[in-house]
Amino acid sequence: MEAVRFPRLTTPRLVLRAPSERDIPAWFARTTDVESASLAGDPVPDDISAGERWIARSRQRFADGKAIKWSIDQAGVADAIGTVTLSFDATDAKAAALGFVLARALWGNGLGSEAAREVVRYAFETLALEQVTAEAVARNFASLRILAKLGFKHIESFIDESDGEHCERFALDGGIESPSVVEQSGARLPS
Ligand SMILES: CC(C)(COP(=O)(O)OP(=O)(O)OC[C@H]1O[C@@H](n2cnc3c(N)ncnc32)[C@H](O)[C@@H]1OP(=O)(O)O)[C@@H](O)C(=O)NCCC(=O)NCCS
Repeated sequence: MEAVRFPRLTTPRLVLRAPSERDIPAWFARTTDVESASLAGDPVPDDISAGERWIARSRQRFADGKAIKWSIDQAGVADAIGTVTLSFDATDAKAAALGFVLARALWGNGLGSEAAREVVRYAFETLALEQVTAEAVARNFASLRILAKLGFKHIESFIDESDGEHCERFALDGGIESPSVVEQSGARLPS
């Protein structure tokens, strides 16, 4: 059987592509930024050798149809500046969860919004998903703002039992119910 081709996406400033071994140093720098990891709810790796496992897991989850993780390249920047991930729901083939992390030096330039918007567009237009969900810790104002700009609706508040964090859960439905994505990307969603 032919392997599924990785979906390369582009935006005015960014290229979203498959992660590779050359991303490991930048990945290690991002994931060992303790404040960023805490905001994202991600574990901090002990050692850069964990990067090989990160790449292997990303590839395996893509091959198994469980998730797509994109490395984000910005024109003129040598290293990948972050990742965006769509993790598919094990019980609902038409739903996926969105996650994103950017290197701290690039925060505040609209790049997180740009990458997230393109992946949401891809999820609805190309994958024909019906819902994209997202979670954020309640103190993650940048993430909450990005989700609001993309039209995500608040579903519920909850406590993450692993660390006691107050978190918020959001969902964005596809089709004609998603005017913000249409307005902000200029894209047409399938009717
Ligand atoms: C979340 C993250 C990807 C945002 O990336 P970014 O490129 O800085 O985001 P953008 O510049 O596109 O947008 C951030 C928005 O939040 C707003 N914002 C940022 N900090 C804020 C704060 N403390 N209070 C209120 N709004 C804030 C910005 O003004 C901007 O809104 P605007 O477009 O209306 O001006 C980045 O901060 C990051 O990687 N954080 C650590 C990991 C993480 O939290 N991931 C998300 C897990 S759910």
